[in-house]
Order: sequence, then structure tokens, then C-alpha cells
Amino acid sequence: MVVGNIKESADVVVIGAGPGGYVAAIKLAQLGKDVTLVEENKIGGVCLNDGCIPSKALIHVAKTLEEIKGLECLKSDIKVSSKELQEWKENVVNKLTSGVKLLEEKNDVEIIEGRAKITSPKEVHINTDEASKTLKFNKCVIATGSKPLEIPGFEFSKKGIIDSKQALKLEEIPENLLVIGGGYIGMELGTVYQKLGSEVTVIEASKNILPNMDSQAAKVVERRAKEIGMKIITGEKAEEAVEKESKIKVKTSKSEYVADKVLVAVGRVPRTENIGLDHANVEKNDKGFIDTDDVMRTSNPDVFAIGDVSGQPMLAHVAMHEGKVAAKTISGKTAFSTRQAVPSVVYTDPEVATTGLSEKKAVEKGFEVETGSFSMAANGRAMTMDYKKGFVKLIADKENKTLLGATICGPEASELISELSLGIEMGCLVEDVEMTVHPHPSISEAVMEAAEDLIDRPVHKYKQ
Ligand code: NAI
Repeated sequence: MVVGNIKESADVVVIGAGPGGYVAAIKLAQLGKDVTLVEENKIGGVCLNDGCIPSKALIHVAKTLEEIKGLECLKSDIKVSSKELQEWKENVVNKLTSGVKLLEEKNDVEIIEGRAKITSPKEVHINTDEASKTLKFNKCVIATGSKPLEIPGFEFSKKGIIDSKQALKLEEIPENLLVIGGGYIGMELGTVYQKLGSEVTVIEASKNILPNMDSQAAKVVERRAKEIGMKIITGEKAEEAVEKESKIKVKTSKSEYVADKVLVAVGRVPRTENIGLDHANVEKNDKGFIDTDDVMRTSNPDVFAIGDVSGQPMLAHVAMHEGKVAAKTISGKTAFSTRQAVPSVVYTDPEVATTGLSEKKAVEKGFEVETGSFSMAANGRAMTMDYKKGFVKLIADKENKTLLGATICGPEASELISELSLGIEMGCLVEDVEMTVHPHPSISEAVMEAAEDLIDRPVHKYKQ
């Protein structure tokens, strides 16, 4: 609704239509609530418009290009047109965002294109291009998401300094791209541009790229990144960027680099400014996130907060899950936010996916831990796809062999991880995974063989 006749009240007002907010709105409507969804930018939020979806579209094209180039039996000289690539990606985004809009409409969710600010514990003020009005709510869901962290010396207003949103919209593939931060975004987008023809250098302050991921998997990704020509500099902190002729010079703690563009991907921060948290008696924690309980309720029992604005991990699927938890709670159903097996995927080459507890976290929680693993190099399906890198690692309780966590580093890791999330949620034993018949040939056999490694020895692994 772009119109001026905003109604007087709603059962629930949802602020923000990203993956958290749009899911919460649909679920609330399905559960019989009268819902108003307010969005100041585009339906779908960062995920659909400027994050997960467009980046995966670019990753797909870059991956396909690299795979074709990598197959020695195929001789081809394929070139990518940035213009057509951008058009195709925008087309994917538009189809998905209009699909979400249609879903909202079909569920009778009222969509308001405007900016919402809470003005009292029971009221929100909405400004659209044509109207300005205060709406009473019974419950409110804050789903305002996050924005890129801006660091001193690398202001996004400076020429040539870009954030992930701009990096997804480049009309020309830069000759040189310097990436500050070797985390999720830096490694995903750095890999894309290297494969599309840029010379990419990643500067990471920690001693490893992907410092929050399994270190063995991070090493596999680093080796592969170097193999395709990326420069990976670790243990160097980027300190300042200055314009140098038509390029940008970046000073780090140890050296200097010059590039055409500098992508800054050093984390994201919650978007809590100017939404009226004080008027609603909603409290933030010391990290700036809105504090919630396990049903996503804030310090104001009528206000809920979901997704990036409510804390780590800042992942779209977590936001969606929390949106459903909030919607069910508001509708009087039992729900809670489970954090037992939250998958996390970085879409690098190869992909890395984790779920449940890492080995370190399991030990910290007091488990005596045992691990089993299987290499992709011994998996037939991976070989037919020309992938030899990566592994599956399962983490189990040594005593009773309950599955506690998993890391998959390899092709389709993002798809394979859900088997293990379900296993962990259901309290399954390693033997349940090992005795489940997996299709042959498939990469999922590596999961089964990693489970077998925890029991005796995988059939396709010899004694060291
Ligand atoms: P990140 O936290 O993953 O990585 C930021 C990196 O920057 C860290 O490794 C940090 O050590 C490094 N760093 C910080 N300051 C630096 C400096 N001055 N010089 C050099 N290195 C520096 O953050 P990122 O990549 O910006 O992503 C933000 C969030 O977005 C992630 O935490 C993730 O939750 C989400 N995301 C998820 C994706 C997925 O699920 N596939 C994809 C992209 C983002």
C-alpha cells in the first residue's frame, strides 16, 4: 500500500520486510492476525536485494566459468559480459521480491512503503511519501536488520571504497580489487571477482581467513583461493585508504597496497537508530543488539525483535526461524528459538558448512569429544565433478556416540549440512548416520563414511 489512508490500529505491526520481518508477517497472518508490515526500502531486505540472493547468483556464474576453464577436456574461451550478468542477477532478485510481495498480499498482510518509528509502548508513527500517521498496535515486531560496519579511514563516502551492496552492482569488473576482511563477505565476493577476471588481494587482520570457521576448512579455502590467483594477506590490519591518482592506496599495519576498488567487509552492525527504542522501553545490550528472551520478546512484553537486530549469528535463516517463533508466540502457540543446530555456510570455493557444536565449543561445554572424518578426494561423485578438495568432519560425544556437530568443506556443503542438523536436533547417534543408506554415487556418502570413521574404519579409507 503506497496510499495515504493508513488505518488506526493493527493487531501486529512488523517493522522491516527482510527475511525476518516478511516471514513473521506471513506467519502471523496465517495464524489469524491482522498485520501491517512497514518497509522503507525494498521488500526482501538486504538478503533478497543486496546480500544472499544476488551474491549467490554471481557466485554461481563465477563458479560455472571457473569449472569450465578448469576442465582440461573442454577447450573454450568464454567471456562474461558484466552488463548481462547484472541484468540476469537483477532479474532473479526481482522475481523473488515480487514473489514475496504477492505472498504477503495473498495472506492479507497490509504493506506500507514508509518509515516507522515507535513513539510509545503501544504506538508507531509511520511516514510515507504521501502520508504521516500514528498507528496503535497490540504487538510490534522489530526486524530492522543490520548494515555494514564502517571503520575510520575507510568511510564509504570516499571514492573507490565500497560495501558489499555496491560490490554486487559493479558495472565493470575492476582490474584490481582489494578486500578488507577475509570473513564471509570478503572471501565470497573476493572469489567471485577473481574468477570473473579481477586481481584480488584480501587483507585479513587475524592470522587466518574465516577466523570464525573450522580452521582446517579455512586452510582448504585459502589454498584454493591462492590456486585461482588470489593474494591472501593475513595478520595485517588495514589502517587507512587515500586516493592516489585514479586509484586508492591502502596503508596496513605492515605494508601498502594500491587498487582500483576497495571492498570493506569487516562485519555488520545492528540497525537500531531512529526507531524509537527508548519510547518503547526496549533495551539494548552492550554490543548494541536488542536483548530478547528465547521467544524473541524484548524488555517490553508487547515488542519482539528478530533477526540481525537481535544478535548473532546474523544469518537470514536464523531471522526466518525467529520470525516464526515470534509469530507463534504472539498467536498464543508454543515456540522457542532453538540454537542447538544452527547451520552456517560460507559460499566460497569450496563451500564450508557447519552445524551444532564445533570441537572447541563441545570441549568447553564439558564433553569428551571424538571426531571422525572423510576426505572428498576419496569420494567418487566429487571426483566426477572435478573436486578433490575438502572433507567431512563429525564431532561426537566419545562416551555415547551422540552426534554433536559437523563441518563439511566441499561441493554442495550448503545442501549436505541439513542431514546433520536434523540428526543433532533429533539426538541421533553416529551409528544412525552410518547405517542410513546414502545414494551412490553422491557426495553425501562422505557424510556416511565420516560417521563410519567414528565407529571403526570407513570402507574407502586405508590404514595410515
Ligand atoms: P565477518 O565477521 O565474517 O568478517 C570480517 C573480517 O574482517 C574478520 O575476519 C575480521 O578479522 C576482519 N577485519 C576486521 N577489521 C579489519 C581490518 N581493519 N583489517 C583487516 N581485517 C579486518 O564479517 P563480514 O564478512 O563483513 O560479514 C558480516 C556478516 O554477514 C557475517 O557475520 C555473517 O553473519 C553475514 N553473512 C553471511 C553470509 C552467509 O551466510 N553465507 C554471507 C555474507 C555475510
